Amino acid sequence: MDLTGEKLCEKFASCVNSRPLKRAARYRVGVDLGTANVVVAVVDEDGRPVAGKLKRAQVVRDGLVVDFVGARDILTKMVRELCEELGEELVDAACAVPPGTGAADSKATMYVVEASGLEVRNIVDEPSAAAKVLGITDGAVVDIGGGTTGISVLRGGKVVYTADEPTGGTHFTLVLAGHFNLPFDEAENIKLDEKNQKRLFPVLKPTMEKVTDITGRHIRGFDVKAVYLVGGASALYGLKDVMADALGLEVVVPRYPLYVTPLGIALSCP
Ligand SMILES: Nc1ncnc2c1ncn2[C@@H]1O[C@H](COP(=O)(O)OP(=O)(O)OP(=O)(O)O)[C@@H](O)[C@H]1O
Ligand SMILES: [Mg+2]
Repeated sequence: MDLTGEKLCEKFASCVNSRPLKRAARYRVGVDLGTANVVVAVVDEDGRPVAGKLKRAQVVRDGLVVDFVGARDILTKMVRELCEELGEELVDAACAVPPGTGAADSKATMYVVEASGLEVRNIVDEPSAAAKVLGITDGAVVDIGGGTTGISVLRGGKVVYTADEPTGGTHFTLVLAGHFNLPFDEAENIKLDEKNQKRLFPVLKPTMEKVTDITGRHIRGFDVKAVYLVGGASALYGLKDVMADALGLEVVVPRYPLYVTPLGIALSCP
């Protein structure tokens, strides 16, 4: 990952759910409707992050909208708050869908975004959005989100292979909940606190190996030199090393994997 991408994510991280970094002449919005989180990224005309919101929400499953009204209400509130903070109407937006999503499901995502008052100027696929921020045209983008792990192989800037497997961040939490006999939400909070993660590694390692096996199975047969991890669960302590050892490939984990795709979506707005 090039430095520019890391810097963009760092800047974005500094303003998510906080105050806007600056005013701009024109704003471009990226909406990422995820299984675990809804993220809105706002960049200026030059693609510099200026503001953002993240909310935990259960309105999407496996990248597809399952609760239209809930998604619309959450997004509308997030967009309204951003407009107030920026003192400006936000209009131009891009949204994303998993690669291979059909026309009907893409439309559902677009309708949610338009119901929030934004106008959709572009619909991109998630790995292509991530690749923009990663600064890559080749390699495997592995998105370990809430519900699923999405594996995409890029060649020459195009997605040439894609798969989605139902193991994601939620499964790590379920393993912890089972191991420590805790309710899901408590286990989730323990997992998210990065100072606990080293201690949790032995408990989570088998699930990391599962994600690694899944990844290895899908990228086999492609000339992949590096694997780029994005999505919130990529941040887990130890995951990068487990993958790199087992796959024998370079594994790149950005400092803020949760923000790579949302920022890439905003950058995909013309
Ligand atoms: N620092 C962290 N360490 C470990 N896990 C994290 C961290 N931050 C977020 N997560 C996990 O990442 C997951 C959410 O990631 P993300 O927002 O990328 O998913 P999503 O886009 O909502 O879901 P999907 O892509 O599956 O639709 C959750 O399971 C959350 O617990
Ligand atoms: Mg996601």
